[in-house]
Amino acid sequence: MSKQTADPLGLAGDAPLFAAYLAGLERRASLGHPFITPGHKGSLSLTGSSVAGDLGLSGGVDTVKLSHGHLEQAEALAASLWGADFCRFSVGGSTHGNQALALSVGQPGDEVIVSRTLHRSMLIGLVLAGLRPVWVRPAVDPRSGLPGALEARALREAIASHPGAVAIFVGEPSYVGTFGPVTELAAVAHEAGLPLVIDAAWAAHFGFHPDLPPSAIAAGADAMVTSAHKVLPSYSQAALVLTRGDRIDKARLGRGLEATYTTSPAGQILASIDASRALLAREGEQLLGRTLASVAEARRRLQEVEGLEVFGGEGVDPTKLVLLLSGTGAHGVEVEEEMIARGMPLEMADRDTLVALVTLADTPADVAALTEALIGVVEKKRGAPRPPLKASWSVDPETVLSPREAFFAPSERVTSPRAVGRVSAELIAPYPPGVPVLAPGELVTEEVLAALLEAKAEGVRVAYAGDPSLTTLEVVRQP
Ligand SMILES: Cc1ncc(COP(=O)(O)O)c(C=O)c1O
Repeated sequence: MSKQTADPLGLAGDAPLFAAYLAGLERRASLGHPFITPGHKGSLSLTGSSVAGDLGLSGGVDTVKLSHGHLEQAEALAASLWGADFCRFSVGGSTHGNQALALSVGQPGDEVIVSRTLHRSMLIGLVLAGLRPVWVRPAVDPRSGLPGALEARALREAIASHPGAVAIFVGEPSYVGTFGPVTELAAVAHEAGLPLVIDAAWAAHFGFHPDLPPSAIAAGADAMVTSAHKVLPSYSQAALVLTRGDRIDKARLGRGLEATYTTSPAGQILASIDASRALLAREGEQLLGRTLASVAEARRRLQEVEGLEVFGGEGVDPTKLVLLLSGTGAHGVEVEEEMIARGMPLEMADRDTLVALVTLADTPADVAALTEALIGVVEKKRGAPRPPLKASWSVDPETVLSPREAFFAPSERVTSPRAVGRVSAELIAPYPPGVPVLAPGELVTEEVLAALLEAKAEGVRVAYAGDPSLTTLEVVRQP
């Protein structure tokens, strides 16, 4: 690999782990044959490009004994950039961070206050940790059914009615970019002596431009998890966990992270987090300014399309491009298919909603091309305007058992109509956004089943169900 390709912006000078990764690749090329993992030994002769660039952290980026501490140095730099006092990089996505954070608070059986729009990874975190959720609901936009922000008032009420709760877990921003008053939520949490943990999977860019909200940590949260691979130019699976202050027990969090982590992390993924951190520190504001300007222009153009609504405004991440299609009559899944055919797959599509993910890696020309293609395809697919579908994530759950009790309870598979009135043993979520409509321990109601079947019929991928056709559901066996 040429130097120009390996590090086109010269970030390695400010990124110790990235520099060590590049040096490790060079060293390996000149070293001969290692008798350590990974089993491909750096050779592409058997499995080809599927292992190109792979280098373990241990015995590749660093020594087998990790004697140089490159990872710790990189994590310290990230902690300082986000204003945190603890940072861990992960190759397990925000999924890993959420699970470890669930393991870092309270005892099995304790209550935690959880925003119902949280990702499935946090629900599984509750199963692992044996925590009992007290759901708080963010406001839902009545017209589009899209989730809004969690209000401080709702959090205060939940704390008042569950004084034994030990922590608060909130997703911020939501998948569609809505964000709330983290500073107020933190004040409410801290008044009650509780840690506020934010799943900021989609917000690794917050805090790096004056027109964006601050990062959750800067806004007063005690911990945040974010996926570097979602909105930063990092490798798939790359994520960070950050904490500040003493409300989260760092030693316990460290143990939770180790317990749910591979012992053989890929150096390339970790190095890509360090490289993105160096990029944010050096050029984040300028690059995000470019992103914000191109998205603003895209929004302006798209708003001119008759019947098309561009979701946004105050309280919505201005880098998000979320389109509401019902007024155009175009079917989102058909628009998506055509966009794929044009080489521009989108992040998410259901009948009424399209989400295009625009990041630092998109140039103004890329975003302009996306905009023109979207306008053309929506016009081509235009039909009779219709009311939007009730979004499946606006269904109110009825909890019967804790997620953990239901997860481990004896269960059976029954036809979906027979599952109504029974307790779900599985987690089912339209994906994206991966927000569970049905969680282990919740009652399968007519409403829940109808929402899932409707989403499925409209071409949404209904994920994690044991039977993806939804003909049957796994329910807790009755005594
Ligand atoms: C809100 C939220 N949290 C966590 C995750 C999990 O992130 P990852 O895929 O990095 O594990 C996602 C993934 O889509 C998400 O949307």
